[in-house]
Amino acid sequence: MDVSEKGSFNPRSFITEKILWLKETIGGEKAVVATSGGVDSVTTAVLAHHAIGDRLKVIFLDDGLMRKSEPEHVGDFLKRFGLQVKLLDVSKEFFDGLKGVTDPEEKRKVFRETFYRVLGRALKDLEAKFLLQGTIAADIVETKGGIKTQHNVLEQIGIDPLERYGYKVLEPLKDLYKPQVRLVAKALGLPRDIYLRRPFPGPGLALRVLGEVTPERVEIVRKATAIVEEETARMKVFQAFAILLNDKATGIMEGKRILGDIIAIRIVHSKDAMTANVPRVPWKILDRIQSRILNENPSVVKILFDLTPKPPSTIEYI
Ligand code: XMP
Repeated sequence: MDVSEKGSFNPRSFITEKILWLKETIGGEKAVVATSGGVDSVTTAVLAHHAIGDRLKVIFLDDGLMRKSEPEHVGDFLKRFGLQVKLLDVSKEFFDGLKGVTDPEEKRKVFRETFYRVLGRALKDLEAKFLLQGTIAADIVETKGGIKTQHNVLEQIGIDPLERYGYKVLEPLKDLYKPQVRLVAKALGLPRDIYLRRPFPGPGLALRVLGEVTPERVEIVRKATAIVEEETARMKVFQAFAILLNDKATGIMEGKRILGDIIAIRIVHSKDAMTANVPRVPWKILDRIQSRILNENPSVVKILFDLTPKPPSTIEYI
């Protein structure tokens, strides 16, 4: 995306207005922001830090569903902006909740409930009254439109967070689409690798494992995702990732028939995630991806490349 595409949106006035709004709304209280390291939550964290300084507590939930090296990367990065990140390892709670769950909407709901319950404990420990989150307009439009219940959309679908989880939720970016969030991030002085960062969904690799989400299956897709990201790092694309399908295919190992895993590769161009199309990917890149995935994941016997635009497809598989 081109961050010079400003239109009538003025990121500086947006920043001034939201900092004031956060200061007035939070008053003398404490607030928590849970960051995933993506542009939306990092922008929210930095905005809120400008508004309330050290009364903002930053949490990184290690839910076991993140990409390779993400927890260390996010902590190191936010330190550069004067933000201390508290890492909470809650992966067991997430995997316990997701055990046996295969339905896409059910998975999102289990993720959502676990996410807000875990954060509720953290807010209590930190004596904070507000949770800040980086929900953006596309999340709300898709959820309200009945396409998918994104984990971070609550009030807009009739869930009162105060009543259900015991704290208030503030969403300073909720009227912006991705290109505007990137402009705000850039105007806040965040580095290029953050404001141009490819989106990664809140429920993480749970959305990239079709069927049951187990630590073993997540590990297969985590390794494949790292390979796809590395091999496409120089391409200007909106998202590039791997998905583990919930089916098996016949393969050959040491001259014998085996039933192995199937991985799909999804690479899309998009501006705001509302529509997407598939770019031409140089064959060399696809070939390196397939050979590395097969080498590093002995259980995989088939790798597919997804050609479908959104609509009728969606970017993720669930
Ligand atoms: P879809 O699959 O609906 O995705 O075309 C549109 C964009 O949203 C991301 N996505 C999510 N992000 N929670 C999130 O934070 C979710 O539940 C969720 N589902 C999809 C997806 O990665 C894409 O950028």
